Amino acid sequence: MTRYLIHGGRPLHGSIEISGAKNAAVAILPAALLINGKCRIENVPQISDVTLILQILRELGADVRAVNKTTVEIDCSHIHNKPVPYELARKIRASYYLVGALLGRFGWAQVPPPGGCNLGGRPIDQHIKGFVAMGADVEVRNGLIHARVEGGRLRGGQVYLDMVSVGATMNIMLAAALAKGMTVIENAAKEPHIVDLANFLNSMGANIMGAGTDVIKIRGVESLQGGFYSIIPDQIEAGTYMAAVAAAGGEVLIKNVIPKHLDCITAKLVEMGVDVEELDDAVLVRRTGPIRRTNVKTMPYPGFPTDMQPQIAACLCLAKGTSVLTEGVWENRYRYVDEFRRMGARIQVDGKVAVIEGVGMLTGAQVHACDLRAGAAMVIAGLAAQGDTEIDGVYHIERGYESIVEKLSNVGADIRIVYIPGDEARIQAG
Ligand code: EPZ
Repeated sequence: MTRYLIHGGRPLHGSIEISGAKNAAVAILPAALLINGKCRIENVPQISDVTLILQILRELGADVRAVNKTTVEIDCSHIHNKPVPYELARKIRASYYLVGALLGRFGWAQVPPPGGCNLGGRPIDQHIKGFVAMGADVEVRNGLIHARVEGGRLRGGQVYLDMVSVGATMNIMLAAALAKGMTVIENAAKEPHIVDLANFLNSMGANIMGAGTDVIKIRGVESLQGGFYSIIPDQIEAGTYMAAVAAAGGEVLIKNVIPKHLDCITAKLVEMGVDVEELDDAVLVRRTGPIRRTNVKTMPYPGFPTDMQPQIAACLCLAKGTSVLTEGVWENRYRYVDEFRRMGARIQVDGKVAVIEGVGMLTGAQVHACDLRAGAAMVIAGLAAQGDTEIDGVYHIERGYESIVEKLSNVGADIRIVYIPGDEARIQAG
């Protein structure tokens, strides 16, 4: 088991290259199951969630070949449908996309319920509502989601989502791409990765209109062929490094981004006294003065992303004055607060609201990364803190951040990976 050891208090200077978007990749790679032919996908992030999905595709008989570090060729022409292995699927949230993709291609799917970060209840009733609207029967039995449609092909259907759901929007798009007739998703999510999945499927021959708005229409086609595609840059990875500069100070050019996707994050950082200059495919982030307090409420895109909530909380701990943070998406995304308190933060949580009294300076401590974004927030807090911070549970961070230690070291952070021999025993015992 590894931990990160950070000696804080060093401003960051230089440039960081952003990788492909995790939450786009984890839907686009399963989408390859719908394609009869070889697709070449570029800008694939090297993270453990991607490794797991590729492993599942191989289990299903896909021919998966790494062309280089960030490009993969996948040929699902000769896959055989079978129950997805529990040991692989339970580790990631995105395994639910296998239901939409396999149901769309074969008319049936057997997939274990998804794992991923513990953010409170994470139901998938809206995904199921979509599949049912397309004629499928869905039930959970013997630890598997069983989805099946009579006759082997879904029919277009009308789905109004009860709440804006990224996963349900993408899963219904996957299932509908090869269905007979038109599917309409209303109250759809609008995140950049929704548009990316639609663009990927369309470039392989699908007919999807309206992605990026709250009504998406999918006219099912007979088959999808192979092709080339490049995944968009990761909005949240970019936002995380922007927050790191805000917290630690300095000046960093964050490259390979779509600045428009970052507007919701940039606006808050500017309110907090951070300079952000937008360039064509980069943002220059600089913080020299003190961080100012502000209020933040997370919302579906184009609102402030919930996946940036812990990272912005780290910055607000360092601000002058009291900030109010409201979580508008997940039931329980404040499990990290106790870890921040060990570093001297003053935070009170009441339900979905956290009141953060800025303390100006945090102090290094031994802390735990309780999920992916909370782990990223611990790194940010450690970079800004006085003294040493040791973070365990870093496998959560590596699920979603490619080479985080290397990228931060390259801009002057004192961060390194340490191996603690007793850790495996401790984790197994826990
Ligand atoms: C995706 O999760 C992301 N995960 C999450 O990122 C992200 O936080 C979330 O979207 C919101 O942006 C992946 O893409 C793999 P939702 P998802 O369906 O699709 C409720 C990260 O850190 N809901 O948009 O599972 C749900 O409980 C991760 O990268 C239902 O009630 O999220 C939540 O309150 C963490 N029923 C809200 O909707 C459903 O059927 C939004 O969830 C589906 C969702």
